[in-house]
Amino acid sequence: MRIDIITVLPEMIQGSFETSILNRAQKKGLAEVHLHQLRDYSNDKWKRVDDYPFGGEAGMVMKVEPIDNVITALKKERTYDEVIYTSPDGETFNQAIANELSLYKNIIILCGHYKGIDYRIREHLITREISIGDYVLTGGELAAAVIADAVVRLIPGAIGDAESALSDTFQDDLLAPPVYTRPADYKGWKVPEILLSGHEAKINQWKMEQSLERTQRLRPDLLKK
Ligand code: ADE
Repeated sequence: MRIDIITVLPEMIQGSFETSILNRAQKKGLAEVHLHQLRDYSNDKWKRVDDYPFGGEAGMVMKVEPIDNVITALKKERTYDEVIYTSPDGETFNQAIANELSLYKNIIILCGHYKGIDYRIREHLITREISIGDYVLTGGELAAAVIADAVVRLIPGAIGDAESALSDTFQDDLLAPPVYTRPADYKGWKVPEILLSGHEAKINQWKMEQSLERTQRLRPDLLKK
């Protein structure tokens, strides 16, 4: 899978792809993340990518031309399954969307900034708008990093234990059961007996009950789905 991220602040995202799982997935050839500095696509002699809004509102708006230039250049090289714009008014990101995106071959993520992007970009170039939650960030970079992280770890082989992504919290609209490691008794804080029993069927039953109980208690909205 290839993810092209268009941003005015590539350094804000770079770090997250140079560490741990995302870096390993790239080294294994499972994912490629390319960052594109939007300013490099500005025809303006000062490399400006924003301008004052028509109609006189406060704040700056990202211009059409540099964004069209970079998206057009990328599309000349390959076909994209989705051109995503990160925006607080998009659909709210969740595990189901992450699963869907992880099946794609090529996606573009455009990070918004300032007051937003010229609406014509959204009308003519963007195929999907995604928000990572009902709050406003200073720009779309952290949202793009969140989306790329959640998606890349789902690519088969990206995380060590093949089963581990399937048993994630949210994967079946249930929160994950509690997990423990050694020692079995720490200062009298004990690991549930059942996990030490070696009885696989009973352990699985316990995990399912725990998942249901935690979901019921902490996120009853997930069960209503
Ligand atoms: N840009 C600013 N806020 C955002 C959010 N909540 N999600 C995605 N992109 C954003």
